[in-house]
Amino acid sequence: MQTLLITGAAGIVGTALRPLLREHYQLRLLDRRPVGDLQPGESEIVGDLTDPALVERAVEGVFGILHLACAHGTDIAFQSTVEPNYHATLYLLEAAQRQGARRFLFTSSHHVVGQYRTDVAETFDDVPAAPDSYYAMSKVFGEAACAAFSLRYDLATFIIRIGNADPQVADARRLRMWTSARDLAQLVRIGLEHPQVRHEVVYGVSESPHPLFHNRRARELGYQPQDNAEDHLAPGYLPYEAMDPMTSGRDHVGGAYAGATLVSLLGARP
Ligand SMILES: NC(=O)c1ccc[n+]([C@@H]2O[C@H](COP(=O)([O-])OP(=O)(O)OC[C@H]3O[C@@H](n4cnc5c(N)ncnc54)[C@H](O)[C@@H]3O)[C@@H](O)[C@H]2O)c1
Repeated sequence: MQTLLITGAAGIVGTALRPLLREHYQLRLLDRRPVGDLQPGESEIVGDLTDPALVERAVEGVFGILHLACAHGTDIAFQSTVEPNYHATLYLLEAAQRQGARRFLFTSSHHVVGQYRTDVAETFDDVPAAPDSYYAMSKVFGEAACAAFSLRYDLATFIIRIGNADPQVADARRLRMWTSARDLAQLVRIGLEHPQVRHEVVYGVSESPHPLFHNRRARELGYQPQDNAEDHLAPGYLPYEAMDPMTSGRDHVGGAYAGATLVSLLGARP
């Protein structure tokens, strides 16, 4: 089996994907906190991706990298994203290129188009980026870095703009972009295995009644979602009418992120 490095493996997405990926790949799980409960076929590196020497060691001998780790938050300051999101992504891309890894999967987010109001378009697959936060701006950078590395070097990159990967659907906005773990795992496998992948951008979303993303490119690459968001509503699911129009961000793709403070670089809050 080939070895897949998963960064941020102790988080929500990494924990959900591990059982679905370890039957296909040897998993090297990296996080700054222990992932716990290691299974056969899994190994662990506890450390921080902002250490380039650690990144170099982590990438040794892997055929693919699934880069999940990042700093995030609705009103995260730009400075807090620089090391973990910009530098660490470049350390990984550089190490992958230097060491001859074949595939680099970058988990981006629907927040790269989060600033759009949901009433301006039918779907948001092909609109220009409109990030809703410094977190989302760092995802736009990560996507751009992947494009640059894949077209310059022999490193295939695959961007998955995840919608919402919670175990269940919390509200009407997330209903339009939710993904199950098994649908996300299917996309990861397409990104790692599909022979046509050079540089692709797809959406990490399952089926839903009124999707914000049709995900045409993923479907062209063979993606067939198995799950529908409407079958996975959380017990306290909030329909649109029950969502607070002022605080929930129900009318923006990025929800509350689109209305949160962009903390000024100079420290003052606008
Ligand atoms: N969960 C969602 O609904 C969702 C939606 C859109 C996009 N995403 C993206 O998917 C990815 C995974 O999300 P998640 O929900 O699992 O996040 P999470 O916060 O649950 O997990 C992230 C993990 O990364 C680790 N990490 C962060 N910085 C690190 C560093 N510098 N070095 C080592 N480890 C570090 C953290 O310890 C954490 O375990 C992220 O890139 C996120 O932006 C997730």
